[in-house]
Amino acid sequence: MSGPPIISGRGLCRHYRRGSETVRALDGVDIDVQAGESVCVLGPSGSGKTTLINLLSALDAPTAGSLVIDGRRVDGLAEPELVQIRRGTLGYVFQQFHLLPTLTVAENVALPLLFLGRRADPEVLGRVLRAVGLEDRATHLPKELSGGQMQRVAIGRALVVQPRVLIADEPTGNLDRHTGETIFDLFLNAVRDEGLALVVTTHNLALAERCDRTVTLEDGRVTASTTRLKSAAETAAPLPPTDSPTK
Ligand SMILES: Nc1ncnc2c1ncn2[C@@H]1O[C@H](COP(=O)(O)OP(=O)(O)OP(=O)(O)O)[C@@H](O)[C@H]1O
Ligand SMILES: [Mg+2]
Repeated sequence: MSGPPIISGRGLCRHYRRGSETVRALDGVDIDVQAGESVCVLGPSGSGKTTLINLLSALDAPTAGSLVIDGRRVDGLAEPELVQIRRGTLGYVFQQFHLLPTLTVAENVALPLLFLGRRADPEVLGRVLRAVGLEDRATHLPKELSGGQMQRVAIGRALVVQPRVLIADEPTGNLDRHTGETIFDLFLNAVRDEGLALVVTTHNLALAERCDRTVTLEDGRVTASTTRLKSAAETAAPLPPTDSPTK
């Protein structure tokens, strides 16, 4: 892959003080993520996955190390500048869906545009709702949805700002296996169709193997990284759309 990475971290550390001891949640991690690439962060519970995700998404600041997101040095930036990076460049999806219960599906998806002071273009909103398969649920409230559908809303909400990076911490953690696979496909489709970068964590190895790369953490350090060989079908030009079978 060519071009500078969309995310580049060097020697990333996040240490916490706990009484007299220092918890090294992240301890010198180097990571590069290219546009159009899916990277899965693996590792046992407590290995530092969420800590890393929070740094890469500028939700938390490293104790040491450098971090560049979309060409901007992020470590050391003040909160107002971080907010701009978070809102303009990054889209997040978490294990808990964090939907607003009194807003409809379409309103939840459009919410980040409000924060950015942008109008919810009906065409863009329609495209996002279609991409996450919720066109016919636009006026429903979250309580009327299944867990998988709620996570689709959360993905739509992340995609609506047309982010350059999608960051997801255990997005399938609250879903059954089949629903989790479908949700994971949505992420990989967004990488393919929109040229996004994806950084995702999961405990599910079968899902992880579908990403372009995996990075394994143990005790806050990278202990393994693998690159998946793409099949001939994946590297070939996409097939023209066909009529979908009747349901
Ligand atoms: N605010 C905090 N203060 C002190 N220690 C923390 C804090 N947040 C995380 N830690 C510690 O940092 C380490 C890494 O935590 P982290 O949440 O990143 O792990 P994880 O890999 O995401 O685990 P899981 O798979 O359970 O989500 C753990 O030892 C945790 O206890
Ligand atoms: Mg975690």
